[in-house]
Amino acid sequence: MSANPFLDPTLVHGDLYRGDGRLADRTQALHRAKISGSDVADTIANLLAARVPRGAAVLDIGCGRGTTTLRLADRLRPRRLIAVDASAALLRTTRDRLGDAGALGSVVCADFHHLPLLDSVADAAVAAFCLYHSPTPTLAVAEIARCLRPGGAAVLVTKSLDSYAELDHLVRAAGLDPHGTSRPSLYESFHSGNLHTIAATNLIVIDVQREEHVFHFADATHLARYLTTTPKYRITLTGGIPALAATLRLRLPAPPYTTQSMVSYAIAVRP
Ligand SMILES: C[S@@+](CC[C@H](N)C(=O)[O-])C[C@H]1O[C@@H](n2cnc3c(N)ncnc32)[C@H](O)[C@@H]1O
Repeated sequence: MSANPFLDPTLVHGDLYRGDGRLADRTQALHRAKISGSDVADTIANLLAARVPRGAAVLDIGCGRGTTTLRLADRLRPRRLIAVDASAALLRTTRDRLGDAGALGSVVCADFHHLPLLDSVADAAVAAFCLYHSPTPTLAVAEIARCLRPGGAAVLVTKSLDSYAELDHLVRAAGLDPHGTSRPSLYESFHSGNLHTIAATNLIVIDVQREEHVFHFADATHLARYLTTTPKYRITLTGGIPALAATLRLRLPAPPYTTQSMVSYAIAVRP
């Protein structure tokens, strides 16, 4: 077991993604707080739309709840769209959302280190905010490269090591976890700083684009909602979001609480 919860397979394949509630709550809290930064699914779809023709075969690796998958279906109109994830529950959500949207697409439950897909099957592949769950992301990149046809395009997306670091300080200042500031980043294995190097192990990197995303939590309840979705902190307080919000209100300066994350996109092709 790793000391980093994002690299602990028991947690990643258990509490974090066993159901879709925690990911949905985290995404919703972050979206509500975002005051600057483009929509990531839109950005990915735009990057690929410029490189792959309509009717392509497209993979969304580590698809989660399928937000990017849906956008790819809409923008690229692929002839084949395969969403891959290790979580059966999240794949059910993705499949249902594709069905509700009337979009074509299939889901495959698999580990991204061992994709059950043929060589050169895809014209394009996306891996957004998932390879930081691998202690060996180069192996997952090698699998993605294997599944792309020569010349096929990949967009790999991750965050900076210092993402949300301001919140570590707030949690410490509130007396909720004195060690949050000294723990490794959740994104330590695959982040904005090593994205190019890791992508380049098996792909030709054409470009890396970066964009700062800024989040503004307007009140203590909103911040508490987000904090309960991150496994970084060891908060022993009982009473759920109301108790956490009350403690934050009591011990922190008045809101808003602001934090940031640099989102990076590597655009690469299979040689
Ligand atoms: C933060 S979510 C990202 C979801 C989506 N790509 C997005 O951008 O919203 C990370 C996803 O990676 C998946 N994941 C983690 N480890 C995996 C592995 N070894 N193989 C396949 N999927 C994995 C999780 O189940 C989860 O759905």
